[in-house]
Formats: sequence, C-alpha cells, structure tokens
Amino acid sequence: MEVLNAANRLEQDGAHVLHMEVGQPGAPIPDSVLKVAHDYLSSGRLGYTEAQGIPLLKKSIARYYKQTFGLTVPESRIFATTGSSAGFNLAFLAGFDRGDRIAITSPGYPAYRNIIEVLGLECVEIEVGPETRWSLTPEILEEVHNEKPLKGVLVASPANPTGTMMSPEALKALSEACEAMDLWFISDEIYHGLAYDMEEETALRFTDKAIIVNSFSKYYCMTGWRIGWMVLPEVLVRPVERIAQSLYISPPELAQVTAAAAFEAVADYEKIKAGYAANRQVLLDHLPQLGFDVLPVDGAFYVYAGVSNLTNDSMAFCRKMLAETHIAVTPGVDFDLTRGHQYMRFSFAGKESDIALAVERLKDWVK
Ligand SMILES: Cc1ncc(COP(=O)(O)O)c(C=O)c1O
Repeated sequence: MEVLNAANRLEQDGAHVLHMEVGQPGAPIPDSVLKVAHDYLSSGRLGYTEAQGIPLLKKSIARYYKQTFGLTVPESRIFATTGSSAGFNLAFLAGFDRGDRIAITSPGYPAYRNIIEVLGLECVEIEVGPETRWSLTPEILEEVHNEKPLKGVLVASPANPTGTMMSPEALKALSEACEAMDLWFISDEIYHGLAYDMEEETALRFTDKAIIVNSFSKYYCMTGWRIGWMVLPEVLVRPVERIAQSLYISPPELAQVTAAAAFEAVADYEKIKAGYAANRQVLLDHLPQLGFDVLPVDGAFYVYAGVSNLTNDSMAFCRKMLAETHIAVTPGVDFDLTRGHQYMRFSFAGKESDIALAVERLKDWVK
C-alpha cells in the first residue's frame, strides 16, 4: 500500500509510473462477456440467488472440470463465492474450530495469515525456499505436524508471489499425505489457466476430500466482479451452505451470470495470456543481467526476484526505484516477514509495451 500510495502521488504530479506492483490483470473482460453482462443488466432486476450459486454457473463450472481435466464433478459439491476471498472464510469457518492450526507457506499471499488470525485460528507459517521451488513437501509438513499438530494446510499452485507451481506428482504426494494425517487440504487454484511451461493439475484429481478454492479474478480478468468458487468435500457442503447463507446471502447475481459466460471466451483469454507469456520472457531474459536473482516462473504473473546482490533492504530499494525510475514493484516483506527484505515481486500482468519500457529504465538505472 505504501508503494501504491507513493506511485499515486507521483502520477498526480504528472509522472509516467509503470505499475508492476498490482496483482491483477491489466486487460478488461472480452467484449462477448461484457455484452452478456450488459444484456442481463438491462433486464433491470438483480436479486438474491441460491446461496451456492445459480444452476447456470454451477453447470458451467462442472463443464470446465470435464473439459479441462476430464473430471466429473457433481454440481452439488460446487459452491459459488464472492471471490476466492469468501471461499477462504467459508472453508476456515466450516472446517475448523477456534484455536485450530492451519499451515501456510512463507512466502505466501498475505491475506491468508490475516483471515486465519481474525477468525481465531492459529496460523503456522512454514518457510519454503528456492530449493523446493518454493513449495511445501510432505516431509516438511509431517515434521511440522509432529511438532505442532495441525488441522489443515493451505497451498497455492501456481503461487503468489513466487509464480512457481507444484508438479502433478508433488500435488498428489501432498494431498495424499494430508489424507494420511487427517488434515484438511485446501488447494488455492486461483491462478489456474496461467501456466506457461508446466502441466497444470487440480487436487480434485487425487482426492474428494480436498477443499478447492478458485476464482474468476485472474485468468478471467474479473477481480472487480467479486466472483469465485469452491469444490467441497461432501461433508462440508451443508455446513458451508448454512454459513454462506448467513454471511453473504448469495454472491452477486450479475457477476454469476457474467462468469458463466466467461468460460465461453477462452480464445480471447488465451490472447491475453499470450501477452503475459511474452512479458514473462522479457523479464526472465533481462532481470538476471541486471543483477536480480530469478527462478523460472511456471505460472501466474509474478517474478519473485532475489535482490541480495543489489540491497539488503528491499523496502528501501523499492522506494528508491520508484522515486528514480517510476517503476512500482512490491517489496518481499509483504509476503515473507523474515526473508522478504531480500526479495521483491514484479507483476507482469500489464501491457507488453510497459514491460519493455520498464526493462529499458532499469538498464539505465542499475548501470
Ligand atoms: C493466491 C491468491 N489467492 C487468493 C486471492 C484473492 O482473490 P479473489 O478474492 O479476487 O478471488 C489472491 C489475490 O491476489 C491471491 O493472489
């Protein structure tokens, strides 16, 4: 937020700021999807819907699993949510009791910790590093569980901020380990659709007991529509429904109708993704020459760059970089309180011309 505020101030003073700090797509939704929204809005009536989402959307989500992964998912286990953010609230409230422990990885998406703690649960942050491609392994999880018994674990693949993915085998091993230890396995699949070199897999393939959280925010460019979904284990369907009914009544109707149409616009979304892929290549080609330490990015739209060759305080470095190059990026401390001062996150969800310009500005700056 500090970087964003400083960037906004610079913009107000007329600077051309390149926004590589934002975690959302720069592109609008495709015209065909927007038209569905316009037409529905013109009907003039938006109301409450079923708590778990309208049948049209649930059917489209079931079709997505069939077409993408060849999996048959009963619509009764699909639950539309107000963004994946609401999905986490519901999963934590339905599957956990006050004081229960949930493990997450560090670095990781900072809201996980905040949601877990505000709900009175204990967040156990497990440090992961480049040696496991920033992923949690069954061995590490078991070690932590033996020391401090857990009730569940939450992982994301592709991950934020690192952009790395777990291979299908690694995901299978982790989900099986969770079943063996009787832990809830929460799989944040929000960056699905945005994989570059690696095969994408859903935890649903390996178990019916995982809680799958997904969203239309990233691949489908719908952050502001606040719409996502979960696939729940059978035993959690009714508890989640009861909690969701009271907390939210239903996700927004217009967003649900529009999201169902988004599945039909894959050709447009693939074009947007091709732009991210080009951006990713530009950053992977140039950042190492500029002194940043990077791992190949498997998915999402982030590069988590090591900056220990350039600074030992990424926050100060980000401030200076913004002031002197007008490039806004996110310091690693947002994602990892202990080691984040050695890292920063570049988002490449913006325009291709902006990424090229950012590289040019950085070349002049670090020389
Ligand atoms: C890993 C991850 N999960 C979940 C979210 C929340 O997204 P939304 O509530 O828009 O679905 C984000 C947003 O940046 C994220 O990076």
